[in-house]
Amino acid sequence: MKKILVTGGLGFIGSHTVVELQNAGFEVVIIDDLSNTTLKVLDSITEITGKKPDFYQIDLRIKNDVKNFFDTNKVDGIIHFAAFKAVGESMQKPLDYYENNLSALVYLLQEMRDRKIDHFIFSSSCTVYGQADELPITEKAPVKKAESVYGNTKQIGEEIIEDASKAHGINAIALRYFNPIGAHESIKIGELPLGVPQNLIPFVTQTAAGIRKELSVFGDDYPTPDGTAVRDYIHVVDLAKAHIAALQRLINKKNKKSFEFFNVGTGTGSSVLEVIKAFEKASGKPLNYKIVGRREGDITAAYADTTIANKELNWKTEKTLDEALASAWQWQLKQ
Ligand code: WQD
Repeated sequence: MKKILVTGGLGFIGSHTVVELQNAGFEVVIIDDLSNTTLKVLDSITEITGKKPDFYQIDLRIKNDVKNFFDTNKVDGIIHFAAFKAVGESMQKPLDYYENNLSALVYLLQEMRDRKIDHFIFSSSCTVYGQADELPITEKAPVKKAESVYGNTKQIGEEIIEDASKAHGINAIALRYFNPIGAHESIKIGELPLGVPQNLIPFVTQTAAGIRKELSVFGDDYPTPDGTAVRDYIHVVDLAKAHIAALQRLINKKNKKSFEFFNVGTGTGSSVLEVIKAFEKASGKPLNYKIVGRREGDITAAYADTTIANKELNWKTEKTLDEALASAWQWQLKQ
């Protein structure tokens, strides 16, 4: 049985990916520093699949701890989620973001190089495209100067991986996520923002739950049908399954280059107001919101052209926006 290391495996996307890896017959070992999650997620994963992944609490910025892990754990591939991910925070703490998001990546790749470990899947983001000139966004769209430090760490991360894959024969795939939302059907794992949510959906569900007074809609003067910004909201379970598909592509040596990247979205854009309306329908709860000014750094619209990912990964989304919002609401009710 192949053993896969999942860094950040107790996080939102990481935990859902661990479940799908176990469902697909992989053995999983998780590294997480617990800076943005809790150990309870490990129990929840075990409750869902009946299999408890090995777990190590390691700070991947400590090179020696990374080395020691590989001295005692033989793995057949790595899915690397561990990173800081708050766009706004990244502008206040750029050096923390470069250190955590990039030095950890380099240390992992050095171990892969030295121990001849193959198969690396990287958590990237559509944010590398900035405001794309054409919609939907294909993989041919140019990578633009990142609008945030967070986005820059994803761009630089991809470049580091490409150089390492060429020089050392590490086969790697970067998945450029659009906007992951929702929760596993068991409602035992989901998005766990610590503090005030930065992302739309957790803020929506916390407002509906009465934890937040009202949702601020950041701008209704965008050149979109209803004036609010458009994004491609993908169910986190569909996103998790894309990682399994990417890993199988590498294991089965179907990749055409040593470094590839794919846009992982639904292919459909939804505006903030459309999401609010869909949430009210899915939850049966009217949402308290007000229109305010635009948020600095936001783009008008982003949604994926999924043609390449569907074909090359033999993967496509199966869940709808309504299902994702309903699961997000069910998850919120359990908090
Ligand atoms: C979505 C839309 C906001 C909050 C970022 C990163 C991306 C990924 C997801 C990490 C926008 C609007 C939001 C609110 C609002 N990062 N909004 N009121 O900015 O598209 O993507 O987070 O996983 O890489 O770039 O996601 O959820 O913050 O915003 O009106 O309180 O909702 O303006 O139009 P974003 P988001």
